[in-house]
Amino acid sequence: MKDINNYINSNKDRFINELIDLLKIPSISADKAYAKDVLEAAKAVKKSLDDAGCDNTEICETKGYPVVYGDKIIDPNLPTVLVYGHYDVQPPDPMNLWTSPPFEPVIKKTELHPDGAIFARGACDDKGQFFMHVKAVEYMIQNDELPCNVKFMIEGEEEVGSDSLEDFLKENSEKLKNDIILISDTGMIANDTPSITTGLRGLSYVEVEVTGANRDLHSGIYGGAAPNPINVLAKMIAQLHDEDNHITIPGFYDKVQVIPDDERAEMAKAPFNLEAYKKSLDIGDVHGEKGYSTPERFGIRPTLDVNGIWGGYTGEGAKTVIASKAYAKISMRLVPNQDWHEITDLFTKHFESLAPKSVKVKVSPHHGGQAYVTPIDSDGYQAASKAMETTFGKNPVPQRTGGSIPIVALFENVFDSKTILLGFGLDSDAIHSPNEHFGVWNFLKGIETIPYFYKYYTEMKA
Ligand code: BES
Ligand code: MN
Ligand code: MN
Repeated sequence: MKDINNYINSNKDRFINELIDLLKIPSISADKAYAKDVLEAAKAVKKSLDDAGCDNTEICETKGYPVVYGDKIIDPNLPTVLVYGHYDVQPPDPMNLWTSPPFEPVIKKTELHPDGAIFARGACDDKGQFFMHVKAVEYMIQNDELPCNVKFMIEGEEEVGSDSLEDFLKENSEKLKNDIILISDTGMIANDTPSITTGLRGLSYVEVEVTGANRDLHSGIYGGAAPNPINVLAKMIAQLHDEDNHITIPGFYDKVQVIPDDERAEMAKAPFNLEAYKKSLDIGDVHGEKGYSTPERFGIRPTLDVNGIWGGYTGEGAKTVIASKAYAKISMRLVPNQDWHEITDLFTKHFESLAPKSVKVKVSPHHGGQAYVTPIDSDGYQAASKAMETTFGKNPVPQRTGGSIPIVALFENVFDSKTILLGFGLDSDAIHSPNEHFGVWNFLKGIETIPYFYKYYTEMKA
C-alpha cells in the first residue's frame, strides 16, 4: 500500500479534473427540468466505474432515477464491500449568494482549506465523496492491491428521499449481497481531528396546508372577523414547542432511546467548541432543548423544524389581503427507536387537533427514514478507525451527527450488514447551501485512506 501516495501524487490533477467534469452536470433530482442532466450524470458515473476497471457496470432502471452498479469480484470466498453514494445534488438556490456559478467548478483557497477547495454544488454532497471511492478502487485494481471484492451502488434520488430504493434493494438483494457497507456522505470534525460518524438521525418530512375563507379577502373589509390562515398557522407552529423547547406532540418522546449518563459523558469527550460554533454561524446564542448540550441536541435528540413557510402577498410593495391559504414544510429529525411512520401519524393527529374550527387543515407526508447507529466494536468500525489512524496519524473520534441517510437503516434490514460512515467533509463545507465546497486535501486524504480500510477489513475477516 506504500505506493498509494505516489499514485495520488502522479494522478491528482487528473482526479481533480475528472471530478470537475462530473460537477459540471446539474443533476438536481428535486427539479424535473433537470431530468436529462440527472440521467447524464448516471452515464458519467458508469463510465468512471468502467475507467477504474470495474466489471458488470450497468445503469439499472428503477421507478425513478437509475442506480449505477459496478463490481470487481476477485474471489467469492473473500469479503465483499458495498460502496453506496449518490450522484444527485440539491437545488443550488438562492443563486445570488453564490460567489461563482454552482455548476462551473473553481478551486479557491479558504481559511480551513489553505490548499484550496473545489466550489460547486455536489462537491462534498456527494459527488466529491463517492468519487474518492472510485479513485481508490481504481488504484487498488490497477496496482493489484484490491484485497477483497467490491460492489458500487450509486443512486440518483438521495436528496429527494430515495423513494425507489427499497424496491430496488429487495429486487436485487442477491446481486448487492455484501458483508459491509461503506459510505462517504457525512463529515468529520476537522482536518486535524478525524472522526467517524456512528449515528444518523431518522426523518419525517411533512407539508401542511391551512385554509380559511374560500377566496383571498380584503384585509380591511374582512380583517378581524374572518380567519387569517397565516396567523392561525403561525400560532399552531408556535405551539409545537414549549418554553423549554421540548416538542409538545403527545407521545413524541415515548420511544426515544435514553442514553445512559456514562455514555453521555463518553460522547462529551468529542472535541466541540461552543464559542467557535457560535462564531462560525454568526449567532448571539445557540437555541435548543433544555437540559442538553449542543452536540447532544444535534446528535441524540429529536427535533422539529419549519423548513419553509409561505402564503399571501410576498411581492414588492404592499397589498392589503387576507390569504385563503397558508402552507409550511416541516421536518422532524428522529433518533433510534422512534418509528417515522408512527411519528408522522402523531404529528398529523396533533396538528389537526390544534386547528380552530374556523380553518381546515391538511397534512401531507412527504418522505422519511429511520435513524441508525453503528456499533464501534464491529470489524468494520475497527478497520475504518485503523485506516484513519494510519493516514491521519491520530485515532478518530466516534461521533453521532444530525443528518439523515434514509437508506442506511434499510440496508441493515435487507442485508443484515452494518454501515460504516467514513466521511471526509467538514460542517463548514456548506452542503445544501450556497458556495458548497470540498477541500482538495480532504478529497485526496479520502483516496489515500480508503484502500487501508479494505486492507484492514480483509485482514480482520480472515
Ligand atoms: N449527505 C447528507 C446527509 C448528511 C450530511 C449526514 C452530513 C450527516 C452529515 C444527505 O445527502 C442528505 O442531505 N440527507 C437528507 C435527507 C434526505 C431524505 C433528503 C437530510 O439529512 O436532510
Ligand atoms: Mn449526501
Ligand atoms: Mn444532501
